[in-house]
Parts: sequence; structure tokens; C-alpha cells
Amino acid sequence: MGFCVSVGRILRKGKCFVLVLLCLSVLAWIANFSGEIAKSIQVSFNMTQIPVKADTLRDHLTKHASTPPLKVKCPQTSPLLKGAVKLSFEPSLTLKDVENDNKGVTEGKYAPTDCTARQSVAILIPHRNREKHLLYLLHHLHPFLQRQQIHYGIYVIQQAGDTTFNRAKLLNVGYLEALKEYSWECFILHDVDLVPENDHNLYVCDKQPKHLVVGRNVTGYKLRYKGYFGGVTAMTQKQFDKVNGFSNSYWGWGGEDDDLRIRVQLQKMTIVRPPADIARYTMVFHKRDSGNEANKDRMQLLRQTQQVWRKDGLNSCSYKTLSIERLPLYVNVTVDIGKP
Ligand code: BGC
Repeated sequence: MGFCVSVGRILRKGKCFVLVLLCLSVLAWIANFSGEIAKSIQVSFNMTQIPVKADTLRDHLTKHASTPPLKVKCPQTSPLLKGAVKLSFEPSLTLKDVENDNKGVTEGKYAPTDCTARQSVAILIPHRNREKHLLYLLHHLHPFLQRQQIHYGIYVIQQAGDTTFNRAKLLNVGYLEALKEYSWECFILHDVDLVPENDHNLYVCDKQPKHLVVGRNVTGYKLRYKGYFGGVTAMTQKQFDKVNGFSNSYWGWGGEDDDLRIRVQLQKMTIVRPPADIARYTMVFHKRDSGNEANKDRMQLLRQTQQVWRKDGLNSCSYKTLSIERLPLYVNVTVDIGKP
């Protein structure tokens, strides 16, 4: 009460300056006092933290002393690429020769040892009675993929029995079976009789589905037609899932690759291709196999793609796996896919 009265008196006398000074000193005292409190809290906090930090460091050092250093990501362009190579198709070549040349491959799989591959890629090869073609392809493909520093696995999907061949359904089976082994990011859908000539034709997936065969020796290295999407194609897991894979309904030669292109276009994806001087293939000569006659219904089927793609594809692919052999150079999936 007395204080208020005196303050009132000071104010009244116009001695504001004294009041301001008084307030400032009170504030300074409060600040100093809280600083001291903060310091003492910090000291006690640090004292309890120091031993914890030391333990963590010791654990870390013990844990990492024996782990090898982390691998770096492989470069965008592999330094091992050779460009266009002269392909050989020696009649005397054996599977044992190819195995001996590829000691770093286990059960068809390989990953670079000194860097981490940029993509994991499953190569799916539909097959029946084309042993020699398969041998030539494996002979060239393994070193080709290793030069590209890719983490890859090769799957050969064998159609059991002698009913009409169905390339598309075998590729659907290959996709589903390969994913049971590993979550591959990219899939290369590969004909057995096409051998790539230039290792700058990268077996990796793009933002859009990629068609890798611009030219083949047998057709003067010209693109067969604008919408051609056959031979060798690269699609990510996401892209292939989005189109529900291939149709299962194309029995015999032709049409299934055009159907896949329509599915891709229906999903508003576009097809990309590497430059023509790189995307070149040698086709190993063969006659049309028996059991793979041209499919005369293919034009009719192609007219229905838009109506049926949602229910004809990966989600309706029924088959019976007869065996899975993990051979040195590839995983051999033998499958009963039924008949037309
Ligand atoms: C067929 C395709 C084939 C292409 C090139 C087309 O008529 O429908 O399946 O890939 O010809 O041979």
C-alpha cells in the first residue's frame, strides 16, 4: 500500500525515469536467476548422458569392425561395355562350355561384385524344343548382361506336352514364378531365337514400356511396322501389372505382342525404343515349329482386347507347375498350361 502510494507520488512528480530503471533491474535479476537454473539443469543432464554416449560408440565400433565397406552404386554407363560385337554360333558349343565361361553365375543369377546394380532384372524366355537356340542365347546373353553390370536372373519357361504353343501365357507364368523367388523390378520378355548385337542396348526398364528390337538381320535391320512390340520387350513390374500382363488366349504364332501393345496404349503408356543403330539383333535361323502354326483367330482376338483385358491376363492365368530346376545358367520352369 505504502509502495503504491510512493509510486503514485513519483509518477505524479513526473519521475518516470526512476521507475523505468527500477523495472529494468528487477527484470535483469530474474533473467540472471533463470540462467543459473538452466545451467544447473544442463550440467546434471550432461552428467547422465556421457556414459550412454560412450556405450553407443563402443557398440557401434564393435559392430562395424567386421562388416565390409558399403558398395557404391554402379555407374550410369558401365565401363565394361564393348558396343557392337561379332556374334559367333559355333556348332560344337556345349552347355558345359557356357557354364565354364560364366563361373560367377549361380542358378541363372548374377550381381556385380564391386558395385550395387541400378536395377534387378528377370529375363523370361518361353521355350519348347529349341535347345540349340537356347544355348546360343545363353552363351551371348550372360556376358552381355554382366558387362551391363545388371543384377539379373534368367528363367526359361518350358511348355510341357505337344499342344499348340502359347508364348504369351508362358510369359505370364514366367512373371508369376520369377516373383515367387525375388521381387524383380524389371522384366525382359525375350524370344529364344534373337541375340542382341550391341551391349549399349541396355536390358533395364524405363519410365515407359520399352521395345528393344528395332532391327533384325533377317529383315534388313528395319522396324517391321510402327506398332511392332514383339521379340524382346522390357516392362517394369508395375507396368506389366497395370496391363494385367498378356492375354492367355493366343494359341499358335502371332498377335499376342500386338495385344500387349493395345493394353499398354489403353493405359495411356507410350512405347519407347533405343536408337536403331544399337537395338539390333541376329535371328538364329529356323523353320516354323510344328505346334506353333499361325493363329488364324488373331485378328478377331485383337478386336476384343479393349473389352476383355481386365479379366484375361495375369489374374486369370491358370497352370500347373510340373518342375522347377535350378540349373547353373538358368531356372527351368516346366509347366502345363492346358490347351486351346
Ligand atoms: C503378328 C505379330 C508378329 C509380327 C511380326 C504380326 O502380324 O501379329 O505377332 O510379331 O507380325 O512378325
